[in-house]
Amino acid sequence: NWTASNFVEMSIDDIKQKAGNKKVLLGLSGGVDSSVAAVLTHRAVGDNLTCIFVDHGLLRKNEAEQVMETFKEGFHMNIILVDAKERFMSKLQGVSDPETKRKIIGEEFIRVFEEESKKLGQFDYLVQGTLYTDIVESGTDTATTIKSHHNVGGLPEDIDFQIIEPLNTLFKDEVRRVGEELGLPDTIVWRHPFPGPGLAIRAIGEVTEEKLHILRESDAILEQEVRKAGLYREVWQMFTVVPNVRSVGVMGDERTYNHAVAIRAVTSTDGMTADWAHLPYELLQKLSTRMINEIPEVNRVVYDITSKPPATIEWE
Ligand code: XMP
Repeated sequence: NWTASNFVEMSIDDIKQKAGNKKVLLGLSGGVDSSVAAVLTHRAVGDNLTCIFVDHGLLRKNEAEQVMETFKEGFHMNIILVDAKERFMSKLQGVSDPETKRKIIGEEFIRVFEEESKKLGQFDYLVQGTLYTDIVESGTDTATTIKSHHNVGGLPEDIDFQIIEPLNTLFKDEVRRVGEELGLPDTIVWRHPFPGPGLAIRAIGEVTEEKLHILRESDAILEQEVRKAGLYREVWQMFTVVPNVRSVGVMGDERTYNHAVAIRAVTSTDGMTADWAHLPYELLQKLSTRMINEIPEVNRVVYDITSKPPATIEWE
């Protein structure tokens, strides 16, 4: 019978056997899969592992700092933080079509990753946090692309590394148990999914610094309040969207014409189907009040009450 501690032991042996004392590279996103893969590999090969964390400027508030703190200070791993914010923003300028945005980000991500890995010298192995379900899904999903999913795991095929996928027999709940066994903090083990293209697909239309600012601030308020209400683990995923809509409001005796923010929160078991989360009215009230009071660019807050299908979880 499967236990997390057996898995950890066997997986470390296996990585040791494959990688020996060769150089190993890993693209870290801070999500649970790549984090668990990183800590397992680090246990197996120590300082022969180098992780690359790309900040594409589409991350949530304080996200890059938190990831660096966890893995650099907490686990003493070699991590390179690549600041690619300007590159991504300039590529995205003037682009508002959702699929084009996704494509640009996916391609730029691969380019940045390749360039950085070349700067660091020669690597023999690339570790990816692919799960069993990822393989199954991409095997059957090729005919109908609803959205071109980009993931930090999705690296070029012509790369001259050997690939190691230590999690490719696991389901999400097993990865979480392995993460706990490895001593990863709850904030990583129980993290909600976050898409590879990041906030870009939540800034509807053209990605601008203003929309990103609104997304970061409103998302931070949402996470704080849902955690405070003790509902974080009941929700599969939640975030805010800036729908590229301005509306008229009134403040004091002045007319305002500002951004709307949409709150999205869903329950799900695998992200394939989802229900909108029935968050308590008092919580929604608090979210609305705080977002309006704390983000001057916002004068209206709405709640998305659509399930998947017919909607998808993300808006783009
Ligand atoms: P949708 O919007 O298709 O999303 O209902 C289902 C789940 O997938 C996440 N998602 C992505 N994850 N790269 C990712 O790694 C992507 O490009 C991507 N697009 C959507 C989404 O956040 C949800 O959890």
